[in-house]
Amino acid sequence: MFNNPRLILDSSSAPDPGRITWRSPSNIAIIKYWGKYGVQLPKNPSFSFTLAASCTDTMVEYEFKEGLPDGQIDLEFFFHQAENEAFRAKVLEFLNSILPVYPFLKQLKLTVRTGNSFPHSAGIASSASGMSALALCLCSLEDALFGTLKDQEEFDKKASFLARLGSGSACRSIFPYAAVWGETTHVKGSHNEYAVPAESYLHDVFKDFHDDILIVSREEKSVSSRAGHALMDGNPYAEPRYAQARTRLGTLMGALRTGDLETFGKITEDEALTLHALMMCSNPSYTLMRPDTLSIIEKVRQYRADTGNQVYFTLDAGPNVHLLYPGEIVHEVRAFIDEQLVEHCEDGYVQQDWVGEGPEEI
Ligand code: PMV
Repeated sequence: MFNNPRLILDSSSAPDPGRITWRSPSNIAIIKYWGKYGVQLPKNPSFSFTLAASCTDTMVEYEFKEGLPDGQIDLEFFFHQAENEAFRAKVLEFLNSILPVYPFLKQLKLTVRTGNSFPHSAGIASSASGMSALALCLCSLEDALFGTLKDQEEFDKKASFLARLGSGSACRSIFPYAAVWGETTHVKGSHNEYAVPAESYLHDVFKDFHDDILIVSREEKSVSSRAGHALMDGNPYAEPRYAQARTRLGTLMGALRTGDLETFGKITEDEALTLHALMMCSNPSYTLMRPDTLSIIEKVRQYRADTGNQVYFTLDAGPNVHLLYPGEIVHEVRAFIDEQLVEHCEDGYVQQDWVGEGPEEI
């Protein structure tokens, strides 16, 4: 939808070399995207909170050149100051895939330097923060070289679209506080090709929400998200699941607006367990939860019953547990984590995070 063969640099007025840097956060899905079609299009709409502390910083340095003879993209890539061939190959594949959108990428020597705010081996996925940071750099590059993005809304839409092509859920990281990706009648302007901001749907309580990430295991997942999405194609529960996600999104949007924490919490936890149930009934089946994941879930439920404190869990496609709760009970919840949950975390590691204001150019 953004293909543009006119975005080509004129060698008679070649741009000066320059650099662009963005910091972009990860996000945590409440309604999960699980199952896709076509080119990274979602089978159901999803909703996420944008996080604040789990970020990727990405700098793109560019310099005009006549182009490599074989028409390849000229890319150097550094992750935490070191060359990283696996990441470079991933980024190169992504840049090649967006050449119809940005044909000028072949006319530049590009150096990408990137790093995460959290330890690389923390078991926290960085594809959402990483791909959104890169997409934002590319949109700033378009702005600097062509000035063709007419306003902030157009900029964000295109950044979200590009981030989606890099990693589906990354498209939701572009927006402050919260975002919705995928067509739904409950959110005006929602689209399968990019996410839209959802801040205006939030009661204030959700703008001050915490997400402490309990790292149960730092090990690489045994089944990647890519493979997991693909297994939904043969899953007998796939169609009812997509219908359920659509219904739940409608209910969730109502709860977000009114500040109904109980309904929010019920949907949040049901979604987490549905995601993992879908993995367990894929063919072949697999489990990403670990015994400690279940111990934490049981303790969270017990804690809620004992104290009435509104703390809820969710899970990504992995064993780590995200604890979601309103900021006003942060001290009590942190004490609960220290006393009862840290023992289930690898090396006692907890990444403290919260709902944040979205990416920034730095
Ligand atoms: O963006 P992907 O392809 O890594 O898939 C993300 C899937 C979940 O994190 C499990 C759910 C979501 O909506 O973020």
